[in-house]
Amino acid sequence: MLYKIVEIRDHIYYVGVNDRTKHLFENLWPLPKGISYNSYLIDDEKVALIDTVDICYSEVFFRKIRSVLGDKPIDYLVVNHMEPDHSGSIEWLVNRYPDITIIGNNRTMDMVKGYYGITDNVLTIKDKDEVKLGKNTLRFYLTPMIHWPETMMTYVPKLKTLFSGDAFGTFGSLDGGVIDSQLNADWYFDEMIRYYSNIVGKYGSPVQVALAKLAGIDIEVFCSTHGPVWTEKENIDKVISLYDKLSKYEADRGLVIAYGSMYGNTEQLAEIIAASAADNGIKNIVLHDVAKSHQSDILRDVFKYRGLIVGSPTYNNQLYPGVESFISSLRNRNIKNRLFAYFGGFSWADASMRYLNAFAEEMGFEVVCDPVSMKHSLNADVAASARKLGRIMAEKLK
Ligand code: FEO
Repeated sequence: MLYKIVEIRDHIYYVGVNDRTKHLFENLWPLPKGISYNSYLIDDEKVALIDTVDICYSEVFFRKIRSVLGDKPIDYLVVNHMEPDHSGSIEWLVNRYPDITIIGNNRTMDMVKGYYGITDNVLTIKDKDEVKLGKNTLRFYLTPMIHWPETMMTYVPKLKTLFSGDAFGTFGSLDGGVIDSQLNADWYFDEMIRYYSNIVGKYGSPVQVALAKLAGIDIEVFCSTHGPVWTEKENIDKVISLYDKLSKYEADRGLVIAYGSMYGNTEQLAEIIAASAADNGIKNIVLHDVAKSHQSDILRDVFKYRGLIVGSPTYNNQLYPGVESFISSLRNRNIKNRLFAYFGGFSWADASMRYLNAFAEEMGFEVVCDPVSMKHSLNADVAASARKLGRIMAEKLK
C-alpha cells in the first residue's frame, strides 16, 4: 500500500489531494496556502466514490484509490459538483473503470455530456432519491447554485455524514491531518470567509434555502470538497453559523475603507477618515488600496464588516479603474446591508462622486453622511469633513 489512507468513518476514506502549485484558483483568486480537492471513497458491498479531483492530480488520486481498493472496481461515481476542480478526473476515471455508473441529477448529466462526452452508464436522480450500497445508503439533496446549478449534496444516514460539495469549504491545503480533530483548524475560518466571499458570495439566497433543507437532518460529519473534514461539534456549529451569517450578508462591527489614489491625495482622506473612526471607538478598521490589495482580500473584509467607505479620484471623467473593478465585484455579489459612505478627489471635473452615489442607490446601501469631495489637495475644510465622515460612520456602527 503506497499511502496510509485516513478512514473518516466506518469504510469512508479520504482520497483527496493537495494543490500547492497553483497560484490562482479559477485563475482569479490567490492560493497563498494552497488548496485541497477532496474526494471520498465508501467501500461497502457496492463501492461509491464521491467526486473526483483536478485533472493535474489524477495520477496521485488513482494511487490513493488503489491504496484502499486494490484491484476491486468502483461501482458508482457520485458527482455532487461539475466545476472542473472536482470533475476534472471523470473521463480519466471512466477510462480506468469502464463499468462505473455516474450518479447525478439532470443538470449534472447535461454537463457530463458537454464536458466529457459521456452519456452511457449514468443514473439520473431527483431530490431525496436513494441508492443502496449495502450497509449504507446514499441519499441525495439537490442544492442548486452552491455553487453551480447542478450542485447537490449526498448524505449517508447511518453514518450521519454529509458530502456537501463546495459548501463549508475553505482555501488552504491539508498539511498532515484531514479531520478537524487531527489539526489546528483556527486559521481555516478566515480562509473560509475569503473562499465564501470570492466563490459563493453571489448565492446568499440559495445558501439559505440549502441551510433550511439541511436543518432537519442529523449531521455529525461534514465532508466538503475543500479543506478539513468537520467532525467536532464546536467547529460544525461555527461553520454553519458562519455560512448562515455570510449568506444573510450580516457582518461584524468594523469598517473597510477601499480607495484608489494616484499621487496620495485621496489616500490622505482615507487616513483621516480611518483615524476619526478609530478615535470614535471602531477597532476593526481595514484600509485597502485597490491598486495594491488583491480583490480577494478586499471582498473577504467587506463580507466581514458592516461599514464600507469607498474613495476614488476622477479618472478620465470616470471612476479610478481599480475602484470601478472593485465595485463591480460587489455588484456581482449582490452585497446587502452595508453602511456606506464615499469620498474622492478631482483636478478639474468631479465625476467620481456621481458614480459612487449611483452605485450606493443601486445597491440600496444606507449612505450615512454627505460625501467628501476634494479639489486638488487637502485643506482644513476638507480634512474637517473627512473627520466628520469618520465620526458619523463610527456612531452608526455602534
Ligand atoms: Fe470547488 Fe465550485 O468548485
